Amino acid sequence: MGVESVRAQGPGPLTGAALKSGSADGLQTAKGNVVRDLFDRIAAHYDRANTAMTGGLDELWRVAAANQLHVADDARLLDLCCGTGALARVMARRVPEGMVDAIDFSSKMLDVARTHAKPHNVNYHEGDVLTLPFERATFDGAAMGYSMRNIVDIGACLREVARVLKPGASFVNLEISKPPNPTWRRLFYFYFYTVLPVVGGLAGSDPAAYRYLPQSLVSFPDADGLASLFQANGFAHVRYVRIMGGALALHIGTTERAPNSNGRDTSLGADLLA
Ligand SMILES: C[S@@+](CC[C@H](N)C(=O)[O-])C[C@H]1O[C@@H](n2cnc3c(N)ncnc32)[C@H](O)[C@@H]1O
Repeated sequence: MGVESVRAQGPGPLTGAALKSGSADGLQTAKGNVVRDLFDRIAAHYDRANTAMTGGLDELWRVAAANQLHVADDARLLDLCCGTGALARVMARRVPEGMVDAIDFSSKMLDVARTHAKPHNVNYHEGDVLTLPFERATFDGAAMGYSMRNIVDIGACLREVARVLKPGASFVNLEISKPPNPTWRRLFYFYFYTVLPVVGGLAGSDPAAYRYLPQSLVSFPDADGLASLFQANGFAHVRYVRIMGGALALHIGTTERAPNSNGRDTSLGADLLA
């Protein structure tokens, strides 16, 4: 999401001292606040709106993302920007003897997450993924669903994820992307920028928020660009899988393995999506 798009499209005014001072940190904090406030506002209807906008496919792709984490049953996993906890619950099923820490900075999204039947092995945390409250090399794997577009500093976020992952562990990112085929891209953009805000606005009871949300794709990198960001920010090995002709993409980044490590390879899975 570009600064300009926040200024032009954001539902709340960015008029604080941060903007006036123009400091990069202050600007990012202000942008983060806009994003958090927006998700606080739409939290109550977020799940229903998602189902309406995707016909339920959003959940299918969360399962596909979690399937890319090749970890032991007792692994400790991290769900970044967990929102209402849909991906965390899928991840929890993959580690029946392990644990999923799920973090988000919207207290209202977390409130909704806690109303869902909670698997015994999910812990929710309120916090910013740009300053993760975890020690380095804590997790055997991590994932993020439908959120990277909303992160104000993608490079900083990736470095934080790499910091808390164990050497050789993988981070799976599921996100809307930019289809390479021009015809399909035009059709998809028509749906994404024109139809989706109407459907989301009706189902989510906040048309202004759903007019704003698609704008986060405008300055988001395409799949190659995001892969380059992974590589530049802590992930030695990166691959991605396009979904639905590139309307979505799963990026899988793996941190460098420890020298002389005999550990199990948790990095690259074989079960690619078509
Ligand atoms: C589109 S929702 C996705 C929620 C969930 N992952 C899913 O699969 O439905 C994006 C979430 O990212 C969260 N978010 C955005 N930036 C964040 C940040 N810097 N730190 C923590 N959470 C953030 C928002 O609060 C929101 O809950």
